[in-house]
Amino acid sequence: MSGGKKTQRLDKILAHLGYGTRSELKKLVKQGRVTCGGKVVKDSGLQCDPIADVIELDGERIFYREFVYLMLHKPPGVISATEDARDRTVLDLLPVDFQVFSPFPVGRLDKDTEGLLLLTNDGQLAHDLLSPRKHVPKTYEAHVLGHVGDLEAIRFRQGVTLDDGYMTLPAELEVLDHSISEEGVRSSLIRLTISEGKFHQVKRMFEAVGSQVTYLKRLSMGPLVLDETLPLGEFRELTAEEIEALRTYKRVAKDILAGNERL
Ligand code: URA
Repeated sequence: MSGGKKTQRLDKILAHLGYGTRSELKKLVKQGRVTCGGKVVKDSGLQCDPIADVIELDGERIFYREFVYLMLHKPPGVISATEDARDRTVLDLLPVDFQVFSPFPVGRLDKDTEGLLLLTNDGQLAHDLLSPRKHVPKTYEAHVLGHVGDLEAIRFRQGVTLDDGYMTLPAELEVLDHSISEEGVRSSLIRLTISEGKFHQVKRMFEAVGSQVTYLKRLSMGPLVLDETLPLGEFRELTAEEIEALRTYKRVAKDILAGNERL
């Protein structure tokens, strides 16, 4: 962080925080309701430092920040987009106080997938986490049809060919449980860690080994782990430690699967 003053137009600062449009803010400032550094401002284009200068509206201090980082426990039935003509989006789950920052989902979960979704307006961080060259691991929990086991684990570790001919990078499969329903349908509870993010990747990987995903939930993305105390559909801001862990995240040797020459 440089120590220099970082000034911006006052109307830009207030608009970023959702206090109104530029023309609404012009009026508000003209009415003498805003102070910067203790002085009443009359020109909404005045340069202020949103961090160093105390800005007040109607006597209340305004706290500025550029970025927001939100962990959403995505429920099924909403889509991972910022807007959609038909369906509810993950942004519809946020209150206006956070919508004003224009956050967007970092990567996509299918409409029927639940679990960890990071939302931010920090384009650089999102770009880094999604970069195909970074191979940020993502861990999913799933119910799949059939009793999967060592054979599927070996195949996933070697890479499987998806329906479009793409050969997946090595992935780590852990089988947690096997069950049989009253109707005699066999299924497995699994955890799968993949290091890429192809369209419907987990579902297509199980199809490639003759199974089918019936329930899917994302548990983690790189160092960020779903907070299991967050109810479905709820969100919270990331802690300073979680933000720092994402910013400084580099895959460590143990993440890189043994014998994988394609990473
Ligand atoms: N893989 C899938 O098939 N769906 C998701 O939502 C995420 C990963």
